[in-house]
Amino acid sequence: MSGETDQTVADVRFVDCSVVTANGELGSEMGVAVTDGKIVSIGAVDSLPEAREEVRLEGDVLVPGIIDDHVHTRTPGHEYKEDWETATRAAAAGGITTIVAMPNTDPVIDRVERLESVYETADADAIVDYLTHVVVTSENLDRIPALAEAGIAGFKVFLGITFGDIEAPTDGELHAAMQSIAETDRRLGFHEENDEIRAYLEAKFREEGKNDAIYHNRSRPPLAEVEAVSRVCLFSEYTGCPVHMFHLSSGSAAETLRDWRHRGVDATAETCPHYLWFTEDVVRERGTVARVQPPLRTADERERLWSVGIDDGAVDCIATDHAPHTDAEKGVDNPDKSVWETPGGFVGLETQVPAMLTFVDDGRLTLPEWVELHSTRPAQIWGMYPKKGSLQPGADADFTVVDPDQEWTLDRTKLHSKSTATPFDGEQFRGAVTKTIVRGEIVYDGQTVTGPTGYGEHATDK
Ligand code: DOR
Ligand code: ZN
Repeated sequence: MSGETDQTVADVRFVDCSVVTANGELGSEMGVAVTDGKIVSIGAVDSLPEAREEVRLEGDVLVPGIIDDHVHTRTPGHEYKEDWETATRAAAAGGITTIVAMPNTDPVIDRVERLESVYETADADAIVDYLTHVVVTSENLDRIPALAEAGIAGFKVFLGITFGDIEAPTDGELHAAMQSIAETDRRLGFHEENDEIRAYLEAKFREEGKNDAIYHNRSRPPLAEVEAVSRVCLFSEYTGCPVHMFHLSSGSAAETLRDWRHRGVDATAETCPHYLWFTEDVVRERGTVARVQPPLRTADERERLWSVGIDDGAVDCIATDHAPHTDAEKGVDNPDKSVWETPGGFVGLETQVPAMLTFVDDGRLTLPEWVELHSTRPAQIWGMYPKKGSLQPGADADFTVVDPDQEWTLDRTKLHSKSTATPFDGEQFRGAVTKTIVRGEIVYDGQTVTGPTGYGEHATDK
């Protein structure tokens, strides 16, 4: 026992919890010891080193920090909808320890200087850890190698028009981009919707004066998604570029993806809680608030998304597509608003963990399967593993702590985003976030976001 004794005393222990990882439920009466924001050891409380501080988790469940690889932080350009501070405040309150931002900002994130500027903003404003994806358009093919080295999560191509009106590259440009990305260690994700089908149907419905929200669904049928998944996988097969499907919405697209994977294509996919929870009936009931692209699907499509996507594993991960637009823009108090004048998307950061826990409670998946989908796989897909997405000694001490038995009803006015428009308003959950811990610091205590603005860091050691 000398001066070095200090090293055997951890900074903080989180005790009195069950621990669950993607590998299984490790048991109750457990704890984790943390020093310098890293995991030192994990196990039965008696086996842990002493610590200067102890936090009791009252029998709750501790899992590796949940990661959301699809968050529209809206900065720069649309700060009136959301900014890094409010997005990461919502993330902390939602049990999310790392977010990955989307590049359909104004200007778009398509070059290193803009990426660095986004990271400066995030560094100053974020409460949880972060990365961002960058966009590939016909304008920036020559910048792909430099962007791949600049600390991004991945690349994104918008094949279907969505918020930001980013035009898809031509097939020739896409082919060249994918050859270039195949030479890097990054993955290319897609907004996978065939835009010619969308453009034709949208023009037709507008012409016919069909402005009800359900016509937006009809303008983006499953075929538009299936065709885009197929095209992307075909290009991947020939270029060797690893690809990712953002926001996979239908069972039909999940089946298509599964078939391409059987051919050996390196394709991963995410789906979002809203595609697993709702059918398009909610669009009829709630109108423009539930507009999202790709749209919510029929009960049959949702069932096959569950069976092929989740049960058979065609889907790798869960993400929100957190897409804030102001309540007025979404027509929260205006049921007569034309769906064509309403932007797609809604907030999701604070409903995703409760929704997934409710599915666990319903017996649709197990806690370890949830952790795999919502922490471990996204960390692996975007190059953060095992620093994130694991509870290995030496990993970042990012933990999401939940009470799986807590029943509650969502009141949108309590959300932390600038927008409160969500079809989950009034939905009942079983399962709540009781603490969000980023690198050993409690950033949300179950009531209040306690993490200081600017605490968040870049999620990899770029
Ligand atoms: O509904 C959507 N909203 N889908 C997207 O792909 C983009 C998003 C947004 O940025 O608002
Ligand atoms: Zn999105």
